[in-house]
Amino acid sequence: MTDIKIAVVTGANRGLGLETARQLAQGGFHVVLTARNPQAGAQALRKLQAENLSVELRKLDVNSTEDALALAHYLREHHRRVDVLVNNAGILPESSREAGAKSTDALKVSPLTVMEILNTNTLGAVRLIQALAPLMPEGARIVNVSSGMGALNDMGGGYLGYRISKAALNVVTRVFAHDLADRGISVNSACPGWVRTDMGGPGASRSVEKGAETIVWLATSPQPAGSGYFWRERKQIPW
Ligand SMILES: NC(=O)c1ccc[n+]([C@@H]2O[C@H](COP(=O)([O-])OP(=O)(O)OC[C@H]3O[C@@H](n4cnc5c(N)ncnc54)[C@H](OP(=O)(O)O)[C@@H]3O)[C@@H](O)[C@H]2O)c1
Repeated sequence: MTDIKIAVVTGANRGLGLETARQLAQGGFHVVLTARNPQAGAQALRKLQAENLSVELRKLDVNSTEDALALAHYLREHHRRVDVLVNNAGILPESSREAGAKSTDALKVSPLTVMEILNTNTLGAVRLIQALAPLMPEGARIVNVSSGMGALNDMGGGYLGYRISKAALNVVTRVFAHDLADRGISVNSACPGWVRTDMGGPGASRSVEKGAETIVWLATSPQPAGSGYFWRERKQIPW
């Protein structure tokens, strides 16, 4: 048991999740990295431990309510609290699984694929918030890693499942911002921009360090950014 602040990051074994975990630990948090694949998680853990950061690993598939509840139980027993939750885990199977020019075509995507994306990108965050909110003290922060691809204000075509999942994640942000306000817990959505990860690809415009910046800022800034908003590059953006 310790008084150090505790952060939990989902999908922390690679990409933006790993970098967010790194930056939070560099900022003085004890970071609980979570990953659905324990081997991949252990590799990420070793990287951050080699940088002398305060980190540990727990197995978490965000599609599993059982995993989320087991994580909550562990955190209650070992840390008593959660100060920051970053709902980062996400998938974009529309661009990888159904290869070819039609791969992102809204007229072709299977409704089952759409449901699979929603289960991870949207309900994953719901499972974690429901499981961990009871451990969050006043001042705790939840950051949902969303995307401009879910902004109704700037909606393009294709990627139907992904776009629905991120628009719905923004609803999750608004609803929990409302429902956790009386406990002083903030909930915000962050768009990292187009980032060079496995998902973003090598041609993306942003480094992973830059992509994680606004997420970490929302989670740690001494001047809280309010609650129930959508952010990119530390600026509020329209839904
Ligand atoms: N990269 C971009 O340009 C960009 C832009 C806007 C928003 N985002 C969002 O940023 C977040 C991170 O994306 P990224 O670019 O870092 O993608 P990434 O490199 O593909 O990493 C995705 C992470 O999510 C994990 N994950 C997927 N399904 C999971 C599940 N069921 N349970 C637990 N973990 C799961 C993956 O674990 P495995 O290794 O086990 O697959 C991996 O750690 C996502 O929510 C994404 O939508 C990314």
